[in-house]
Amino acid sequence: MAESRANDEQIAYWNEKAGPKWVAMQERLDAQLASLEGALLERAALLPGERVIDIGCGCGSTTLEAAARVGPGGAVLGADISRPMLERARERAAAAGLKNADFAEADAQVFPFAPGQADAVISRFGVMFFADPAAAFANIRRALTPAGRLCFVCWRPMSENPWMRVPLAAAAKHLELPPPPEPHAPGPFAFDDAEWVRSILDMAGYSSIQIDRHDARLPIGNSADIERSVDFAIDIGPVSSLLMGKGDDIRSAVRASIREALTPLLTPEGVVADFATWLVSART
Ligand SMILES: C[S@@+](CC[C@H](N)C(=O)[O-])C[C@H]1O[C@@H](n2cnc3c(N)ncnc32)[C@H](O)[C@@H]1O
Repeated sequence: MAESRANDEQIAYWNEKAGPKWVAMQERLDAQLASLEGALLERAALLPGERVIDIGCGCGSTTLEAAARVGPGGAVLGADISRPMLERARERAAAAGLKNADFAEADAQVFPFAPGQADAVISRFGVMFFADPAAAFANIRRALTPAGRLCFVCWRPMSENPWMRVPLAAAAKHLELPPPPEPHAPGPFAFDDAEWVRSILDMAGYSSIQIDRHDARLPIGNSADIERSVDFAIDIGPVSSLLMGKGDDIRSAVRASIREALTPLLTPEGVVADFATWLVSART
């Protein structure tokens, strides 16, 4: 890990709390996010032989897919601050026999990437956690070639993401919600405002900034079974944080309320809801 501890709080969070949870849920999360990863990689249009950095690679899904796309003549570096998630990513790359995927424990805001080492930087929900996003994106830009490109996917506001908003509102009947975060504070919704994202990338020296709405309607928990959707809503995101250390009574009450709130969204394909993201790309 680089010297600077600019993102200490996030480093602790992604190593101690969220990391182990994401590892335990890796298969379910990857299945849930597969179509969003597809949209990201389509936008990135990686070519055989290219060198890529995957920021906030987590358990490595996008890194492995990018490595397959650039082929043996190319290379992908997954950068992340979470040791347990990197460990899972390394295991998966070894199991897949991918020799062109490497991983680094690296805070992307300060990590000394080699200048011009990458043709493309990609990220699936891994760039919203920087204490100083303009500094982080400037650091990432230096890792790109002069013709390099940046592509990432991030969440639009919670209000447009019922897959998270509906279960959270149901849980709030039984649990006290923390005060809403300051606008743009590091977290999953830090980049929900497209103009803010544009201004950050502009400040960090990028050009040709393109920010598009990407809307997906997906079964929550990637299952037709409402119980799996309820499990997913409880196991990940703010509901899971609020339930940490809570007893069985409150868990059962929250589960019942979430099930009730999700029932009107039930279709033959399962509990289907909007997953609203920004698909962002820019040039150095
Ligand atoms: C929401 S998860 C997404 C993980 C993965 N990209 C995926 O889609 O499964 C966010 C990831 O960003 C990583 N992250 C947060 N801050 C970071 C930083 N400053 N530098 C590198 N990675 C960071 C976290 O450790 C975590 O793996």
